[in-house]
Amino acid sequence: PRVAIIVVAAGSGTRLGKPLPKAFVELDGRSILSRSLDPIFALADPAQIVVVAPLSHLEQAHDIVAHSAGMASDACSVVVGGDSRQASVASGLAALLPSIEVVLVHDAARALAPASLFERVIAEVDSAGRGVIPGLAVSDTIKRVDSSATVLETVDRSQLSAVQTPQAFPRAELVAAYAAADREFTDDAALIQHAGGSVAIVDGDPFAFKITTPWDLRRAEQLLADASS
Ligand code: C5P
Repeated sequence: PRVAIIVVAAGSGTRLGKPLPKAFVELDGRSILSRSLDPIFALADPAQIVVVAPLSHLEQAHDIVAHSAGMASDACSVVVGGDSRQASVASGLAALLPSIEVVLVHDAARALAPASLFERVIAEVDSAGRGVIPGLAVSDTIKRVDSSATVLETVDRSQLSAVQTPQAFPRAELVAAYAAADREFTDDAALIQHAGGSVAIVDGDPFAFKITTPWDLRRAEQLLADASS
């Protein structure tokens, strides 16, 4: 394959309040990780898939991937994550096949991101030749505040975008930016920009919201129930 998708699923997910790592929490009868792989296995052009899992759940991750893939495949692997999301992505990058030219990094926690969103970022990275990330316009009014809870100012929301994953990058650029990273960034696009790269934004998808709190999990369950009724 020419495209690889690194699915990071090694976080603990403490804000979800469950005793197991977030990607292994059930979402309407199947794990969040299993749900997040559905659109990836539905892509018209098969991609290399690298799932990054916590050491404690390697075996479960293998079972989930094998179940989704239907059979063992060279183009599907599970690797152990790190202490930070960035360390987990780095661990996924080390598993890329030689043929890979484009790398997508995706949060397993965005379990309902549709296949169309993966296709959109792949098409855009191919035509733009630079990193591409999905984002949505911000609908709330955003304030900058200080540590004593005083509102300092209103931020111009027309200039803001709430960004999601999958984020897509040319392989060489992403690998070089990771090699150069000297601190932690909250997403891969920030890391690329720190290394001097430029990143484009495309329309995100409301279904690609990140499951973080119990309320998000409930919303995801509700959306799945709506879709099956
Ligand atoms: O914690 P948060 O939901 O922001 O994490 C985003 C994604 O990064 C999740 O899918 C999580 O599993 C993953 N992650 C990881 N390794 C870490 C921390 C987070 O793979 N050490």
